[in-house]
Amino acid sequence: MRRIAVVEGDGIGREVIPVAAAALRSLHPDWEQIPVELGLERWRRTGTAIDDADIEMLSSCDAVLFGAVSSAPNGEYPSVVLRLRRALGLYANIRPIMGVSCDLVVVRENSEGLYAGRERIEEDRACTERVITRAGTERIARVACGIAARRRKLTIGHKANVLAADRFFLEVARGVAHCAGIPLDDAFIDALCLDVLRRPERYDVILVENMFGDILSDVAAFHVGGLGLLPSANLGDGHALFEPVHGSAPDIAGRGIANPVAALRCTAMLLDHLGDRENAHRLGTAIDRVMAQSILTPDLGGTATTQEFGRAVLEEL
Ligand code: NAI
Ligand code: MG
Repeated sequence: MRRIAVVEGDGIGREVIPVAAAALRSLHPDWEQIPVELGLERWRRTGTAIDDADIEMLSSCDAVLFGAVSSAPNGEYPSVVLRLRRALGLYANIRPIMGVSCDLVVVRENSEGLYAGRERIEEDRACTERVITRAGTERIARVACGIAARRRKLTIGHKANVLAADRFFLEVARGVAHCAGIPLDDAFIDALCLDVLRRPERYDVILVENMFGDILSDVAAFHVGGLGLLPSANLGDGHALFEPVHGSAPDIAGRGIANPVAALRCTAMLLDHLGDRENAHRLGTAIDRVMAQSILTPDLGGTATTQEFGRAVLEEL
């Protein structure tokens, strides 16, 4: 018996996560699903977007299935996602990008660099510090090597020709990869963004620091047909949160047309993470089969609703 926290969040999170949760329930009716409300709607209702009790609840579960939360319209509350990553120690962001011409995994450091919150605005200047530590680099490099060991090779993306912090990142990550005996190359991040678009078959697992990973994974998403398809895992020692790469999509929310594939693939990643490889594979195959029957939501040129797609996946299962 597992306990899974289910955070629908805002916007289309409330449409795609019920589909992902239904798939999980059909595969594991005995697992407890615990709904947790976070985000903008919660803030409008109660005046808080997330609190310590939520963090405690999420920490106590075996995994979190997370939709998306809308950021505060005027900065009324700080980022729910950054708070969660920090509180649960989710230092590794894994973004598999699998398409016709593309099968790669971006491994993004999720806790350091420019997103660590060390910044200040003064009267005539603003400064965001980009700190990269040995411990932070070693632990993300170990995660990347673990994934690359089951695949082909590792590429480190960096800007070591210009930035001292990247020379450090590259050297430390290389050390970890050499120890693990992983086939390794590296590339400058700007050239890498273009080359991933032109020759994706040359890449397998790509290790990058925080902001470079944010940008590179969206660039690579070009190969799979959009944001509605990409799942991600946020992992730490002892905690795991699975969320689509997309946000709450207010432009289409409430219309029942959001693509639930990213959320469904999050369920598959969650199952895989909790050791149920067989059902993870079954769910992945069911999603592929439904798409192959041209049951597609409007973002992919089809006419299926979120729920119709979800029902077709349940029937396949
Ligand atoms: P977004 O990912 O929500 O939407 C970007 C575009 O992609 C929109 O046109 C949207 O309709 C489309 N799209 C996204 N997911 C889709 C799906 N499943 N099916 C069909 N079309 C889809 O990004 P945006 O508009 O920049 O952000 C909207 C809100 O979401 C903001 O408040 C932002 O802060 C938040 N956000 C939250 C994230 C999280 O909770 N992890 C991540 C990214 C954004
Ligand atoms: Mg992003």
